[in-house]
Amino acid sequence: MSPSAGDRVLVTRRIASSVVAKLDAYFDLDVHDSEEPLRRDELLDRVAGAAGVLSMVSDRIDDAFLRAGDKDLRVLANYAVGFDNIDVAAASRHRVVIANTPNVLSQATAELTLSLMLALVRRVPEGDRILRSATPWIWSPTWMIGRGLAGGTLGIVGLGRIGKEVARLAIAFGMDVIYANRSGAVADAPYRSVTLEELLATADVVSLHCPLNDETRHLIGADELARMKPDAVIVNTARGPVIDEAALVVAVRDRVIAGAALDVFEREPEVHSGLLELDSVVLTPHMGSGTAETREAMGELCLDALKAVIIDERCPRNALNPEAMRAP
Ligand code: GLV
Ligand code: GLV
Repeated sequence: MSPSAGDRVLVTRRIASSVVAKLDAYFDLDVHDSEEPLRRDELLDRVAGAAGVLSMVSDRIDDAFLRAGDKDLRVLANYAVGFDNIDVAAASRHRVVIANTPNVLSQATAELTLSLMLALVRRVPEGDRILRSATPWIWSPTWMIGRGLAGGTLGIVGLGRIGKEVARLAIAFGMDVIYANRSGAVADAPYRSVTLEELLATADVVSLHCPLNDETRHLIGADELARMKPDAVIVNTARGPVIDEAALVVAVRDRVIAGAALDVFEREPEVHSGLLELDSVVLTPHMGSGTAETREAMGELCLDALKAVIIDERCPRNALNPEAMRAP
C-alpha cells in the first residue's frame, strides 16, 4: 500500500538527519527538532491526529497521552530498549502497538559499562581532575593506586541481552562472572546463577542490567549495599530508580562499599548532590547507547516499526504488545 498524506508521524526530539530523511520518504513528518523534550501540554497537543509516534524515554506515554492520540494513533516506536516510560497495558486497550529497539544497542551499552568499571577501579576521572586542577604531581609507587578487573568476580543483575554482552567483555578482561536473574537461570549461559544475596556478598563489581518495573524499583537499597564487600563497587547503566540513590551516597561516603559508577539517575536529569562530592563515584549522562552507528540503527528499527503498522498493516518484529494490532 502506498503512503497517504494522512499518515502523520510525530518525532518527539531531534534525531540523526539521516534517519529523518528516511522517515520523510514515507510519512508526513512532524519533528520536534530540539535537544529539549516537548512540554507535556505540547506533547498531548501534537499527538492529536498522528498515526504514529517516535518517542523518547523522557516522554511519559500513559492513558492521557493515548486518549490525546485517539483513534488515529496506531503505533508508537520508542527510541530505546527500555520502556518503563510507557503504560503498555493502556496502549493495548487503545489498540496502539508499541515497539522498542532491542539488540542494536547491546554492544554499545556493554562497552560503556566496561568503560565505567575501568574508569572507576583505575581512577581515570580522578586522575584527569588532578591534572586539570594543576595540582603538582610526580610519579610515585604508592600514588593513585587502583585495582584491576582481572581475577575479580563480576556479578550481573539481570542477564538479558545487555548483561550477556557485558559478561562476554568481562571474561576477556579476566573476570569470573556470576549472575542473578529474577526469572531464574538462563539456558545456554555458561555462568553460575546465584541468588541476589549471594551475588552481593561475592562480587567485586556488581553491574545492573535489569529493566525498571515495580519489582526492581529500589532493588538496591541500604540493606543490599551493606551485604556487598567493603572493597566492592557497583555500576548502573540500566535505570536510575533501581538504586536508592540517597542510600548509595551514604554507603559510598561511609565506605560501606568502595565506589559507584552511574550512567542513569533516580530523578534524571537531576543528579543527587551527594554523588557529585565523592571522588570514588564516576558519573556519565545517560549515554549507554551513544555511538553514531547505534543511534542510526535505533532509528532504523523505529522506522521499520512505523512502516510495518502504518503502511504494510502488519505487526512489527519488535512489538511489545502484538495483541494491539488492528485488523487491516
Ligand atoms: C536507553 O536508556 C534505552 O533504554 O535504550
Ligand atoms: C611507570 O611509568 C612504569 O614505567 O612503571
